[in-house]
Amino acid sequence: TTIDMAAEDYALGGHPDFMRKEIAEQGEAVRRALRGRLDDRFATAHLGGLNMDARELRGISKVVFLGCGSAYYAGQLGAQVVEELARIPATAEPASEFRYRNPVVDPDALYVAISQSGETLDTLAAVQELQRKGGRVIGAVNVVGSAIARQCGAGVFLHAGPEISVASTKALTNMSVSFTMLALLLGRVRDLSAADGQRVVEGLRALPDAIDKVLTDEPAIAEIAQRYAEARSMFFIGRVRAWPVAREGAQKLKEVSYIHAEAYQASELKHGPLALIDPEMPSVVIVPDDELLAKNINTIEQIKARGGPVIAVTNADLPANVADDVIRIPRVATELDAMLLTIPLQLLAYHTALALGRDIDKPRNLAKSVTVE
Ligand code: G6P
Repeated sequence: TTIDMAAEDYALGGHPDFMRKEIAEQGEAVRRALRGRLDDRFATAHLGGLNMDARELRGISKVVFLGCGSAYYAGQLGAQVVEELARIPATAEPASEFRYRNPVVDPDALYVAISQSGETLDTLAAVQELQRKGGRVIGAVNVVGSAIARQCGAGVFLHAGPEISVASTKALTNMSVSFTMLALLLGRVRDLSAADGQRVVEGLRALPDAIDKVLTDEPAIAEIAQRYAEARSMFFIGRVRAWPVAREGAQKLKEVSYIHAEAYQASELKHGPLALIDPEMPSVVIVPDDELLAKNINTIEQIKARGGPVIAVTNADLPANVADDVIRIPRVATELDAMLLTIPLQLLAYHTALALGRDIDKPRNLAKSVTVE
């Protein structure tokens, strides 16, 4: 009806669809997630919803992130940043696999159930399985009052605001931001120095503006997306910090454009997938400006030598003409750059889907939250 259409136009606020709107809202969403949680005096974060004191936080033996889809990839990023800042062993696993493999539950571990909707059945079931075995589980949930938030009783709300598009963008970014604050807090009750803590605090604070800056690159990214929209398949290559970024990039492209995409660690390419590289197989290579920069540049050269087109997504200065296309983003702080590197990949997937005329907000066969098995 006309009334429904008017309501939808209003909700879209001038954007063509919700995915585009939610991508654009990310700077604001991150500002909301950070509000009242950064502490300059002690160079740490406050996450009151955890209900854990310093002694309990120090007693955590490992951190295990559980979620489905993009929430799982955000958990991978979380595990990386927890290990890096807090030096606590950390892993991520799909919630659905966890609940069915009779997991060993460590009473000293901290389990984090990640969900935008708070209603994903597999994630809820993993929480119940954990609680039944005496595990300590917190939620990282966007929707207040949702099933997973209530079941956990403690955790970190994501404050991303309502997310309508099936493909997650701002909720995923706020998951990564929340895990960085968790890592900072866990680090600061252990051996992370005040100076390093403050660097992370300032990096987090700089993140919203950096996101807005990346978004100003949209026309250039759209142009690249249009040129590659006819590809049948694409690689997303990244390692260590960029590995969850590559996985999420491939996921986004699959979801909204229906182009086959596979994420691979740069280091593993030579053990098989390099056989697939040819002029018809573009690779998106994620290149953080970190200690693996030279190795990542070498990976690009190996792909180019076999005739594969390369789109580099980077915050580093790459040698001229090393890649066919370069999407250059700002630097924030080494441990935080992975979050920012996901933003151009959202735009790449979005504009590929747009060029192909896909139903962007409601991709075929997918649902926003999966409340059945
Ligand atoms: C569905 C959606 C994904 C989402 C996943 C987890 O599969 O299509 O975009 O990442 O569920 O949803 P949740 O609400 O638990 O984060």
